[in-house]
Amino acid sequence: MIPKETVELIIETSRIEEVVGDFVSLKKRGANLLGLCPFHNEKTPSFTVSPAKGIYKCFGCGKAGDSVRFMMEHEAFTYPEALRYLAEKYKITIEETIPTVEEIQKQDERESLFVLYSFAQKFFSEKLFNTEEGRAIGLSYFNERGFNEAVIEKFQLGYAPDQWDALSQAVTENKFNRQLYEKSGLAVVKEQEQDSQKVYDRFRGRVIFPIHNLSGRVIAFGARQLANDPKSPKYINSPETDIYHKSKSLYGISFARKSIIQHDECFLVEGYTDVVSLFQAGVENVVASSGTSLTPEQIRLIARFTGNITILYDGDPAGIKASLRGIDLILEEGLNVKVVLFPDGDDPDSFARKNSTIQLIDYISKNAVDFIGFKTSLLLEEVANDPVRKAALIRDIVESISRIPDGIKRSLYTSQCATQMDVPEQVLITELNKIRRNLYKKDNEHQQAELVEKLIEMEYLPQQTILTETNAWYQEQEIIRLLLNYGDKNFNYQGGEQQKTVREFILEQILPDGFGFDDEIFAGVFSYLMSMSTADFLSMLKTENSSDLEKLRSKTHELLMNKYELSDWESKGIYVKTEENNFNEAIMNPINHIKLKRVQILKRKNSLLLKEESNISDERMDEILSKQKVYETYINALSKLLGIVTLE
Ligand code: UTP
Ligand code: MN
Repeated sequence: MIPKETVELIIETSRIEEVVGDFVSLKKRGANLLGLCPFHNEKTPSFTVSPAKGIYKCFGCGKAGDSVRFMMEHEAFTYPEALRYLAEKYKITIEETIPTVEEIQKQDERESLFVLYSFAQKFFSEKLFNTEEGRAIGLSYFNERGFNEAVIEKFQLGYAPDQWDALSQAVTENKFNRQLYEKSGLAVVKEQEQDSQKVYDRFRGRVIFPIHNLSGRVIAFGARQLANDPKSPKYINSPETDIYHKSKSLYGISFARKSIIQHDECFLVEGYTDVVSLFQAGVENVVASSGTSLTPEQIRLIARFTGNITILYDGDPAGIKASLRGIDLILEEGLNVKVVLFPDGDDPDSFARKNSTIQLIDYISKNAVDFIGFKTSLLLEEVANDPVRKAALIRDIVESISRIPDGIKRSLYTSQCATQMDVPEQVLITELNKIRRNLYKKDNEHQQAELVEKLIEMEYLPQQTILTETNAWYQEQEIIRLLLNYGDKNFNYQGGEQQKTVREFILEQILPDGFGFDDEIFAGVFSYLMSMSTADFLSMLKTENSSDLEKLRSKTHELLMNKYELSDWESKGIYVKTEENNFNEAIMNPINHIKLKRVQILKRKNSLLLKEESNISDERMDEILSKQKVYETYINALSKLLGIVTLE
C-alpha cells in the first residue's frame, strides 16, 4: 500500500500540464492551455488544462479531473497504477506501508499464486521453444495456424509436455509450496482409497494460451488439444482461483486496452485463436469472451475504455441466434453494439489469415451493421407471412430496444424497426411502454427520492410537506430571486446544447400557463422583467424615482444580497456544466410547485361546478368529470416530479 503522505506528495508534485502534455499537444491560451480532447473526436479544441487549478476539463465531452484521474482515464490505469506512474515520472520513491497480518496472508497467497502462474507460463514457453517435443508438436502447430514468432511471444503461448508430472516436478525442484500448488488449479488432485491422493498436471500434451488480467499478469490458462480427439474436450481451462474469476476476465484485454481507447471501439470475438490472429493482422483492439456469453462484469470492463462494441461472428446461424440474448445485456449497459458477419465457413481467425490487413479492416468497416437492425432482419427471414410468429418477433425486438437506457436512441430504433418490419410505429411504442413500465417505476422512485432530499436540503420542504393553497410564497420568491440574480445569464437548459438566458427560460415555462404571482411585490417585479432584461430593470431601479419602483426596491435588494450557492458558479467557471445542471432544477422546482398549486385550485373550482349547477345534463357532467380527470393526472405528475404528498 502507498502511504497517505506519499500519495499527497505525488499529487502535489505532479504538474497537470506536464502530465497531460506527454499525451496531448497543448497550446497556451491565457492562463490555461488548450488542445484536442483525447477522450472524444473533435476538430476544434475544447480540452482545457488549468495549471493553476491542477485540472483538465473538456467542454465537449465533459471529462474532467486531476493528474491522477487523467492517467486513469487515458491509460486505463487503476488508481494505484496511476500513482505509481506519476511517482516514476517525478522520481518519487514509494515506501510501501506495512500491512496487517491478515492483509499479508491474503496478499501473500494471491501474490504467491501470481508467482506460481508466472512460473508455469515461463515453463510452458520454455518447453515450446527449447524442447524437441515442444518444437515438433507445439511450435509447428502454431506455425501451421500462421502465428508468427512475435505474436507467439507477445501472447506468451506455450506447450505442455505430454507427461503426467512435467510441471509438478519443476514446481518441486523450484521449491514452491506443495499445498499452494495443489490448490492452484495447475494440478488435478484425485482422492484415492486409504486417504492417499494422486496429483498430476492438469495440462498435458496441449498448446497453452495464458490468460492475463488487466495489468498483464498471468491468472489462468486455456489449453488446446492438438489432434482432433472427440473424446476429450478441445480446450481445457483453469478453474476459478483467488486470482482468476472467469466472469470478470476477458481474453486479450491487457494487450487490447490501449488500442480500444485509441479507436474508441472494441471488437469482440469468440475464441483465443481469433484474438491472436486479429492481433497479428494489426487489429489490436480485440478481446474474447472465451466461448461463454458475456457477463455484465465483462461488459463493464470494456465500458471503462469505450462505449462501442462490435461483435465479430462466424457465419454460423445457430451460434448467432444463441448469442442474441447475451447482447441485450450489452445494450442494457448503455453501449452501442454493432455486428459483423463473416462469410460462410469463416471465423475472424480464418478470415484474417486468408486476407491482407487492409482487406480485413475494409471488410469489417463495410459489413458492420447496427445490432437491432441485424437482429430484426435475421429473425424476419424466418417469419415469412406467419402473423403469430411476427407478433413474437415484434415482442422480441422491442424487448431488446427496451434495454437501451437512452430515450432518444430508443425512439430512433423504434421508428427504424417499424419501417423494417412494416408495422405501424404505434404498435411498437405500445409494446415498448408495456415492457418499460416496471423498469420505469423503479427509476422514477429513485429519482423522486433524490429530488425530495434535495428540496429538503434547500429548505423548500420540511420532512413531509402537505401542500395547501397558500404556501407557494417561497416558490414565488425563489423565481424572482433567480430572475434578479441570473436573469441575463446564458445556460444550457435541460442539459442540452441549446443556450437560453435564465429569464427567457423562466418566461417560457411560466407564460403559457396563464401564470400569476399572489404576492404583489413579486408580481410587480415580474411585470417589469417580462419586457426587459434584468440589467435594464436594475439600472432603471437605480436611476428612476417612481412610487411604483420604490415599493419594489427593498425586496429587490434583499434578494440580490441572497445569491447563495449558485452565486459562485461563475468564479468556478471550469465546473460550469455541473452548476448548470443544478440551475435547471433550481428553476424547475419552484415553477412546478406553483403549477401544482394552480392546478389544484382549478380542480377544486371545477368540482364545485357539479354542486352549483342545477339541472346538470349528462353531457355537461361528462365534460366536468373528464376535466377533473385531466387535472388529476396533471397533479399526480407534478407531485411525483416534486416528490410530495398532496392532500385535498
Ligand atoms: P472455438 O471452438 O471457436 O475455438 O471455441 P477456437 O479458439 O476458435 O479454436 P480453433 O480455431 O478451433 O482452434 C471458442 C472458444 O470457446 C472456448 C475457448 O475459449 C475457445 O477459444 N472453448 C471451446 C472451451 O473453453 N472449451 C472447448 O472445448 C471449446
Ligand atoms: Mn476458431
